[in-house]
Amino acid sequence: MRKTIIAGNWKMHKTPASALSFVETFSDLEIYDHVRVIICAPYLALESLVQNANAPLEVSAQNLHQEEEGAYTGEISASMLTSIGVGITLIGHSERRQYFNETDSIVAKKVQQALAHNMEAIVCVGEQLSEREADQHEFVVSSQLKEALKDVSSSQMDRICIAYEPVWAIGTGKTASSLDAQAMSHHIRRILSDLFDDETASRCSILYGGSVKPDNIDELLMEPDVDGVLVGGASLDPVSFRSLVKAGNKK
Ligand code: PGA
Repeated sequence: MRKTIIAGNWKMHKTPASALSFVETFSDLEIYDHVRVIICAPYLALESLVQNANAPLEVSAQNLHQEEEGAYTGEISASMLTSIGVGITLIGHSERRQYFNETDSIVAKKVQQALAHNMEAIVCVGEQLSEREADQHEFVVSSQLKEALKDVSSSQMDRICIAYEPVWAIGTGKTASSLDAQAMSHHIRRILSDLFDDETASRCSILYGGSVKPDNIDELLMEPDVDGVLVGGASLDPVSFRSLVKAGNKK
């Protein structure tokens, strides 16, 4: 059975202190066995979140650098993350692609770097509005996926989740319809079958992201190929994040 994943992406929000006070309100959080709740926090907050055992939340980075170490001022490596107990990272979020020039081939290197350090990765893919309007969305997502996963083996896929985030739905209040989210998640699963095999594809969790809120999550999670959500804005507030987790318990 695939896990249901409720992942909050805090982006560039929260200091270490405000991150800690957020998770402290979750010490009583009930998470069912089929659910994983993951917070993708800014680098500076990661260590204190990992050390705080009071809340049943897993902690993820939002990014890592593709090289092992070296003269890359301002960057953070996989071994720095694992040394403080962070075993998960987002890779290839559309904001990284858009504002930090992350190409598909950099995304592929980052995936290799995460896997080389036994980390799990949530690999993000998604089309721009113009690409959807030109009916290119399936093509765009399949080329992003093929490039990102080109050197990944089927056994390594156990450590990879895919997040489908249409760029036009991120932070805009426009959610893809649950049918669109299902159609793309199904398409992604077919690509994974082609790249690997049916079993690998059926084991991989596929998340939807883009303006997910407490009032639209139920509908999205009802879709058979949508295994979870990656949530930006609505993950910053503990009350709305708690309702997202409750929705995950119900899937
Ligand atoms: P949003 O962001 O929920 O604020 O649209 C989602 C994301 O970028 O991961």
